Amino acid sequence: MKLKNVAVAVVALALAVGMTACGGSASSTAASSSEAASSVAASSEAASEAASSEAASTSAAAGELTTVEAGKLTMATNATFPPYEMTTDAGDFEGIDIETAQAIADKLGLELQIDDMDFDAALLSVQQGKADIAMAGITVTDERKAVMAFSDSYATGIQSIIVPEGSDIASPDDLAGKKIGTQRGTTGYIYCTDDFGEDSVVAYDNGLTAVQALNNGQVDAVVIDNAPAKEFIAANPGLVILETSYAEEDYAIGLAKGSSLEDAINSALEELKADGTLQSIVDKYISAE
Ligand code: ARG
Repeated sequence: MKLKNVAVAVVALALAVGMTACGGSASSTAASSSEAASSVAASSEAASEAASSEAASTSAAAGELTTVEAGKLTMATNATFPPYEMTTDAGDFEGIDIETAQAIADKLGLELQIDDMDFDAALLSVQQGKADIAMAGITVTDERKAVMAFSDSYATGIQSIIVPEGSDIASPDDLAGKKIGTQRGTTGYIYCTDDFGEDSVVAYDNGLTAVQALNNGQVDAVVIDNAPAKEFIAANPGLVILETSYAEEDYAIGLAKGSSLEDAINSALEELKADGTLQSIVDKYISAE
């Protein structure tokens, strides 16, 4: 079973009628909430402590894997994308991708090393072999597949449209002639420039700065993934998410083309899906509505 982002699935379900995805590749339809919802969050921290670097270097799994830094799984990310990756007040990384990567690293007997950078840099980092994996709520697209590889998908995403309350923008088509804020290098940027032209789209360093620009009236709408969109509007009264989504997509782990890690990553992911770990990580960060 393909794991579904529960909250997104619920939203997708609510929007299933009259959906006009005018950009991007429509993929799956709405799924029911997971039957595997677990009340216990995965304790990947505990597991990671058990997998010390000594253990990793002697483990059979690690012995067969060649990574950027021996004994480590180096992950490029952009930790401005709650609930997939963000930083705590103390400066630690947390989120669905962080814990999933930790669980994969544990399975492979590797120590997780997180490198935080801009989103477009994270995509490049893995292509250039500076990181073993890129995990950043990354959407699988044909254009990206031309320059990098992807693991099996581990979540479904939706591109959503955030507008100020009372906006005359009510559907994706209404974005025509408007200024649209996006995060640089994301599918939101790519779809909007394809559909409405580069002059209509402003690229910001991250989703939060795009949302701040919306608050300041510098753009008329922000197109961004639904899960962070929800977190941003919760923190910014006066903004709403349109009921009609813009596009649906699949998230996967980015790898270098021809990466020797692909099979090991997919096996680990498969196990984490099968034993409910992945679902419990999602449930820890996204509550079903
Ligand atoms: N899903 C979108 C994409 O792949 C946006 C991902 C942004 N992720 C992030 N960590 N900032 O283009």
